[in-house]
Amino acid sequence: MNLEEKISPVVRNLAPSGIRRFFDLIHSRPDAISLGVGEPDFTTPWHIREACVDALERGLTSYTSNQGMPELLEAISQYLYERFSLSYHAGSEILVTFGASEAIDIALRTLITPGDEVLVPEPCYVSYTSCVQLAGGTPVSIPTYAQHGFKLRAEDLEKAITPRSKVLILCYPNNPTGAVMRKEDWEPIAEIIKKHELLVISDEIYAELTYRGKHFSLASLPEMKNHVILISGFSKAFAMTGWRLGYVAAPPVLLQAMLKIHQYTALCAPITSQIAALEALKNGLPECEAMVSQYDRRRRFVVKAFQEIGLTCHEPQGAFYVFPSIQSLGIDAHTFAEQLIQEEGVAVVPGDVFGPSGVGHIRCSYATSLDRLDEALRRIERFVKRKREQLPLSSIC
Ligand SMILES: Cc1ncc(COP(=O)(O)O)c(C=O)c1O
Repeated sequence: MNLEEKISPVVRNLAPSGIRRFFDLIHSRPDAISLGVGEPDFTTPWHIREACVDALERGLTSYTSNQGMPELLEAISQYLYERFSLSYHAGSEILVTFGASEAIDIALRTLITPGDEVLVPEPCYVSYTSCVQLAGGTPVSIPTYAQHGFKLRAEDLEKAITPRSKVLILCYPNNPTGAVMRKEDWEPIAEIIKKHELLVISDEIYAELTYRGKHFSLASLPEMKNHVILISGFSKAFAMTGWRLGYVAAPPVLLQAMLKIHQYTALCAPITSQIAALEALKNGLPECEAMVSQYDRRRRFVVKAFQEIGLTCHEPQGAFYVFPSIQSLGIDAHTFAEQLIQEEGVAVVPGDVFGPSGVGHIRCSYATSLDRLDEALRRIERFVKRKREQLPLSSIC
């Protein structure tokens, strides 16, 4: 029996994550520094872990309601209102999921009928395109550009729309570019969303990691709530990646539809993680703010270092990534990333892994200590200097 042939063609043809390869390469260097992973380097604050330990000691090991624990749904509702002026009813408009990842998957599966086009501004988080394909949709890229700070522009969105366009996936603050969208950036986009009756999946997992001002959610603009499925979670803001806890907020009809998939495929999110998440929302915001101010210091350090090395690097306004251009070095980003690991033991991710607009860029995560960032940047500087020396004279003049 040929097992390969038994696999669904959609899954068989799915491209493996381009990031994985660079994680694997790093194991060959014991002194390696990884700027490749999109994961906080902090441990979940103790009082959050303690809430979970305490729950286990009290024997809280059961299923919860499919939608999530009522206290947690209430806390999420209150948090969204207080932090982002978003009004979602705990009982009918919020669902607790296995990370933002499950939320992205069920939102897409709820909306997509085979043949629907899903608009995906890129560079973007690697899962979107594959999840769209798994749901039977057709991903349609919308380019964003370094000269516009990788923001989505209304004219680029409008150009990509066809009669088959149904869903737009947004991610601001953005992985991998660190771009954020302010109220004035959203207003023209909202007009197009209304005009074409698009539904939006807005992945706001990095909302708390916004530097210079507060995160502004598209759903808070007038008439937008009915168009938006808002996704977020605890992984990034509270350093809780391993707890696998996220949530989705959406109009009741859409939420009920997503809940159907969730109850058959996941049943409910783990009770221990839900209890920890409740503690995070009740008492964890000061630690979240302290972590964000650490990221901000590192962000400024890394941007300055890349500028001193002579690589163009727009200033990221959110998340924990920088996305410098390496075009001036005359090598592509895959060669750059491979040679950088082999020669200097620093892992970064080639930008085109996140979409064609990422060509000639690399993604570096600064979710690592300042000391390690300092060492990594010294090595990158040495590497870049060597690459410049190898450039043919004609390309320098
Ligand atoms: C933009 C974005 N969305 C979602 C996720 C996954 O989040 P979670 O850990 O909540 O599943 C990530 C993880 O890197 C991400 O960068």
